[in-house]
Amino acid sequence: MEVIIARPDELARLAACAYEQLLRGHPDAVLGLATGSSPLAVYDELVRRYAEEGLSFARAKAFNLDEYVGLPVGHPQRYLNVIAHDFTGRVDFAPGAVQGPDGLADDLAAACTAYEDAIISAGGVDLQIMGIGADGHIAFNEPGSSLASRTRIKTLTEQTRADNARFFGGDINKVPQHCLTQGLATVMQARHIVLVATGRAKADAVHQLVEGPVSAMWPGTILQHHPHVTVLVDNAAAGRLQLADYFRNTYAGKPAWQGL
Ligand code: GLP
Repeated sequence: MEVIIARPDELARLAACAYEQLLRGHPDAVLGLATGSSPLAVYDELVRRYAEEGLSFARAKAFNLDEYVGLPVGHPQRYLNVIAHDFTGRVDFAPGAVQGPDGLADDLAAACTAYEDAIISAGGVDLQIMGIGADGHIAFNEPGSSLASRTRIKTLTEQTRADNARFFGGDINKVPQHCLTQGLATVMQARHIVLVATGRAKADAVHQLVEGPVSAMWPGTILQHHPHVTVLVDNAAAGRLQLADYFRNTYAGKPAWQGL
């Protein structure tokens, strides 16, 4: 696990470089995408490179981490619509190249299996970007999630629904209770995972993620078992890291050729 502590604009540049390096070498790469505010600066930087530097997503595929159950096709908070608004609709993905779990399926369990199959048939995710919840959840794997979980239906915690109420006119009752989410074992299959966290509210979750014991109570800690994870944090989110000085020194001495 590589932990980099830097300014938010530098973090976005680093993550965008990882995407760019992948796509320039493998234009048909499989990208893992996430909603939430954490990756937004990365998406903006990728859109800039698309518009100004010829970075193309035309042959790439993308898979979202999760989706609410039951939000109508046109609902602005449906995660396929959110990701189109924030990123994929602003670049040149081919029609149908961006997928998410089908939260409107009659048979939700079958939709989850189909989503796992779709990721595998595409060759697996090459580079997954994600954020982390203040309680340590990744995707919608809330505390208590099985570390071996696959794409499945989950019930959102009251805390997550309260956090997300701001996107539903401040009304928690409008936030769906259920979602479909890639499981922790699904996420772990991505070949490279870049996790972005900024702000003091994430300091506990980042401390547990990097330095805590691996536990279903802090689902992100499963990433300690992944061979290629990059954790990008600003000073505030790094506020509780015991190893912060070590991570700062390591980054200061990081060879320029080394990439993420
Ligand atoms: C939601 C998303 C997660 C995201 C988390 C944190 O629960 N399903 O993928 O990591 O929110 O969101 P933010 O990045 O806005 O803090």
